[in-house]
Amino acid sequence: MSVVKINVLTVPAEQRETLEKRFASRAHTVESSDGFEWFELLRPVEGTDTYLVYTRWRDEASFQAWMEGPMKAAHQGGGEGGERPRPAASDSTLWSFEVVQQAGPKGA
Ligand code: HEM
Repeated sequence: MSVVKINVLTVPAEQRETLEKRFASRAHTVESSDGFEWFELLRPVEGTDTYLVYTRWRDEASFQAWMEGPMKAAHQGGGEGGERPRPAASDSTLWSFEVVQQAGPKGA
């Protein structure tokens, strides 16, 4: 079964735009990582300052392999070299889950 890894980011209101812009120009390397299944950047709509970076992987080993290699390059920020910009998030926590059940619409 797949595993879900969610990076929980605390993003102050004045940093939201910066964060979303940074994701808009993200490295796009995760898509070609072995065992990668899904990514979503989730914006909070109920007044909290918590963004979720949802990722799903074939197994724990695939996620660990990404973390040890491509993840680092994908987190350089900006991608044009020079100084790393100040992080838009003020805190982060990694949540890990195993997918126990899943479903999609019939016929899809
Ligand atoms: C120290 C904590 C972290 C912070 C503050 C953070 C923040 C960010 C930011 C701002 C970006 C946009 C690219 C950039 O500007 O660097 C990004 C990309 C990304 N982050 Fe994180 N991140 C963290 C750790 C993680 C972890 C543990 C995961 C695992 C779920 C993760 C998943 C991703 C993915 C999948 C991308 C897109 C990479 C790509 O396009 O290849 N991040 N992150």
